[in-house]
Amino acid sequence: MNAIGDDLSKLVEPDRVHRSIYVDPAIFDLEMERIFGRAWIIIGHESQVPNPGDYFTTIVGRQPMIMVRQADGSVRVLYNRCGHRGAKIVGDRTGNVRFFRCCYHGWTFRTDGQVHSVPMRHGYDGTAFDPNDPAFWMPRAARTDSYRGFVFASLAPEGPDLRTFLGGIASSLDDFVDRAPEGRVEVAGRPFRVLQRNNWKLFFENLNDAMHALVVHESSVDAARGGIARMGAQGLTSYASEVIPTMDKNGIPYSAWEQIETTAFEWGHSYLGGFFNPESYERSYVEALERAYGTERMREILSVNRHNAIIYPSCSTQSAYQQLRVIRPLAVDRTMIEIYNFRLLGSPPDTYRRTLIFTNLTNSPSSIVMPDDLEAYNRVQEGLGANGYEWINFQRDFGRDGHRNGSLTANATSEMPMRNQLRVWKKYMTEEAL
Ligand code: FES
Ligand SMILES: [Fe+2]
Repeated sequence: MNAIGDDLSKLVEPDRVHRSIYVDPAIFDLEMERIFGRAWIIIGHESQVPNPGDYFTTIVGRQPMIMVRQADGSVRVLYNRCGHRGAKIVGDRTGNVRFFRCCYHGWTFRTDGQVHSVPMRHGYDGTAFDPNDPAFWMPRAARTDSYRGFVFASLAPEGPDLRTFLGGIASSLDDFVDRAPEGRVEVAGRPFRVLQRNNWKLFFENLNDAMHALVVHESSVDAARGGIARMGAQGLTSYASEVIPTMDKNGIPYSAWEQIETTAFEWGHSYLGGFFNPESYERSYVEALERAYGTERMREILSVNRHNAIIYPSCSTQSAYQQLRVIRPLAVDRTMIEIYNFRLLGSPPDTYRRTLIFTNLTNSPSSIVMPDDLEAYNRVQEGLGANGYEWINFQRDFGRDGHRNGSLTANATSEMPMRNQLRVWKKYMTEEAL
């Protein structure tokens, strides 16, 4: 039982939440069922499994899952679980198979999960075993769908379809992919993985929170400014001349953040207006985009300016830098973040180098920006475990949200995106039907 009884609806009010939602393991268990067991959760990207039999393993909540390319070109998401006595079938992250073979008694399964063969089959003669019965297969995710190559699964048969669930945030995935001259992107290599010592919700609450940047990123802003001062803007390499000023942007004054807008959507998603400089792309890339789409469309594509976009509760994109961060909660105070880089197909190689520099300077485990946030997450998690006051405040700009085409808007210093996430958290946690 949590601190205020079993009534979960009492834990979230419009402008404050009870601290137990970040520290109570029993609430985390319920989140795994009611949120991660029902919402559309990102699995990965189709480019991770280009050929029939290619697979990629991950988790959805506590469920081990496999994304696998079928012979007909479609992508399925299966539970990574044997239909015999339940062993996890695939131990690797990625690979290619004709059939999945269980490591325990050697049952094999087709890539769509159906039983293919069972050793010593006659041992089942006269029993109820039937290889055509799905009860003996690798189970399938209740629903699988993709949008612009990003594969999502929902473990619940009911609920909004993927397109409805994404709503207005689909435009951030469009922005991600439209930047490719060929209109397609692909994952480049394997992701970085960072184990964070904080509740998963704290990561999402930070991404569109402009009020933290000036304080939390003081040291990396100082480092960026020191670099610019020492070398002069002209002395930076062409790549660093894009990214170092982006780091520096974390240090813009509050008055400037107030001019940036955040937009939030029905299912908890949101994006923060950007400060990316469209002039920063290499000329050869802009020309490739122009050749593919014409001048007007090229300008339109590059004019979309967004920083972090959140697809709640499983991932975040930074489309101007081809970044995807996937959030995999492991425990109430442990969260795995997977950081993917993408290539814009049809673009010159230099475009990808720009992506890598952005990752290395801001998102990788060895960057000088991410540790700022990690330290803040650790301290919030530790502080939330402390006694003294039970309620967490989300009152900044409360009652001042704007409304546009069914979405909420606010200036970037508002806590509107967090209130919107927590409203949806409460919906998942307390409503039977979504
Ligand atoms: S548990 Fe998989 S073959 Fe027995
Ligand atoms: Fe930050």
